[in-house]
Amino acid sequence: MKKIVIACDHGAVDLKERIVAFLQKKNFEVTDLGTKGSQSVDYPDMAAAACHEFLKGGYEFGILLCGTGIGVSIAANKIAGIRCALVCDLFSAEMARAHNNANFIAFGGRIRYAAPVEEMIGKFLDTTFEGGRHERRIAKMTALENSR
Ligand code: RB5
Repeated sequence: MKKIVIACDHGAVDLKERIVAFLQKKNFEVTDLGTKGSQSVDYPDMAAAACHEFLKGGYEFGILLCGTGIGVSIAANKIAGIRCALVCDLFSAEMARAHNNANFIAFGGRIRYAAPVEEMIGKFLDTTFEGGRHERRIAKMTALENSR
């Protein structure tokens, strides 16, 4: 069974529940690291927990959520090996996989998107990485992990 890891802060709990149900329906095994209630938590902590879990191996990709998706994506992209794409529509969902080979996607629970988040995730799932020149660019991004 394909596995994904998901985490959110208090700004996206309802959206997380929706996404978990959507992915379970698609037969994904979902590791849900919370948060679960309305109590405030810090998005860098949630992003770090999900990224470190992902890096243990065995996951297809991860999903991070906060009010805007911005905080979790910035935090995630500070962790070596993580490429977190802040997706906002069907095109960016497609490109996140096809060109960036993102291993995390982020959304905001307080954002009004033109397309349902489930459709954007579906687009990401249905897309394959194009490789080729994009491999070189990803290698250059990875090299930036050691730059100052
Ligand atoms: C929390 O209030 C909010 O700042 C957070 O969910 C997120 O939007 C940050 O980028």
